Amino acid sequence: MQGFRCAPLERVRIGVVGIGRRGEWAVKRLSKIDGLEVTGIADIEEYRLKEGNAALEKESKPPAKEYLGAESYLALADDPNVDLVYITAPWPVHVPAALAALERGKHCAVEVPCAMTIEDAWRLVEAAEKAKRHVIPLENCCYGDEELLALNLCRQGVLGEIVHAEGAYIHNLAAENFAEVDGCKYFTALRGSWDRWRLKWNELHDGNPYPTHGLGPICQYMNVNRSDKLDFVVSVSSKQAGITEFAKSQFGVDSPEAKTPYKLGDMNTSIFRTAKGRTIMIQHAVQTPRPYSRINLVSGTKGTLTGYPFRVALLPNYEKWLDGEELVKFKEKYTHPFVLSSGELAKKIGGHGGMDFMMDLRWSHCLRNGLAMDADVYDAATWSALTELSEISVAKGSSPVEVPDFTRGGWKTAEPLGIVDII
Ligand SMILES: NC(=O)c1ccc[n+]([C@@H]2O[C@H](COP(=O)([O-])OP(=O)(O)OC[C@H]3O[C@@H](n4cnc5c(N)ncnc54)[C@H](O)[C@@H]3O)[C@@H](O)[C@H]2O)c1
Repeated sequence: MQGFRCAPLERVRIGVVGIGRRGEWAVKRLSKIDGLEVTGIADIEEYRLKEGNAALEKESKPPAKEYLGAESYLALADDPNVDLVYITAPWPVHVPAALAALERGKHCAVEVPCAMTIEDAWRLVEAAEKAKRHVIPLENCCYGDEELLALNLCRQGVLGEIVHAEGAYIHNLAAENFAEVDGCKYFTALRGSWDRWRLKWNELHDGNPYPTHGLGPICQYMNVNRSDKLDFVVSVSSKQAGITEFAKSQFGVDSPEAKTPYKLGDMNTSIFRTAKGRTIMIQHAVQTPRPYSRINLVSGTKGTLTGYPFRVALLPNYEKWLDGEELVKFKEKYTHPFVLSSGELAKKIGGHGGMDFMMDLRWSHCLRNGLAMDADVYDAATWSALTELSEISVAKGSSPVEVPDFTRGGWKTAEPLGIVDII
């Protein structure tokens, strides 16, 4: 499936599973792209289906067929008017819904992480190989302006040989986890996650359950699965204190929220080594107060780039980050062509500063033109696998854990992702 192409699919009829915060946005975005049509929507809650169709009506699009229930993705995948199943439901639903699609000969696009266990990641790979259908990881951060700029720099050799990178998901979700709970003083107007699914996961698991926003782009910079591979990883977690303190402050020291033991450490740090001897550090911190960051640091023999805020230092003046006019000119010089062609429109439409729209533009362009995807089922599996690998390493006192080679050796010959566009 590496480099896999299908016959061009001029019109793509899409069934969306999970019309929550992410799914409703997806319905709106997909409705704005030529050749795409949302024909089906599935959710466990009827009112969310109504909201999905209301969003379509607002976009002046015909209503989608509604599928209601915990396994409504089965009937949606049976629908002959659906070519691709777009999965924006909570984490435990990703793989069952994706397998339902693949087993019925449909492509699927899966929110991140695509799978939460190694076994499920293998099931995705095997099902895609058997069905000969795309599994597209919906890793929008691969299409952020700065990530695309970093990819462009790596491809042009500006940073020299890449030896190390750092990425993260540092985003304080403490308040969001309890949105809509009586007594929560924060975000009361904001919709919380369905049935507090994310917090429930964090009660039961340590490690890094959400690794791909940092790891996905870095794997593309380093050609992981396409001439290099992740060999092993070590992972360490701090104690948990942030969620409990937040819950105490909102609901009182004796509240069930404050007394619940949460397994997820406040900061998890994982470090990979690749077959070619590079290192990648990935962090996850969602319950301590701190500004948002994906770090996005890439370091090579000629220089280093980092995000948050964006900075570059290059030989010979590597002790000083470029700034002012110099930095502006540098950014202009190395802006990725896809950002030049589509960035302005994407920013107007929105969705994480436009990168959600860029992602949907690109995979739909590939599908409609019979091209290989920028990220495939092996990338979906590899990037997602840190969820369980980190948990295993933490449980074993931060011992190294081997990363499965989902490509079964295909990484040695697969073509790296080039500098791609939609024109
Ligand atoms: N790429 C990104 O930037 C980004 C951002 C936010 C969320 N996400 C991902 O999107 C997914 C959804 O997150 P969210 O914040 O929208 O969650 P949410 O809780 O707002 O929405 C989940 C939706 O799924 C529905 N649902 C629950 N069980 C279902 C089932 N069995 N079948 C069908 N529908 C079901 C819920 O009713 C709800 O409408 C997660 O995988 C999350 O990691 C990605």
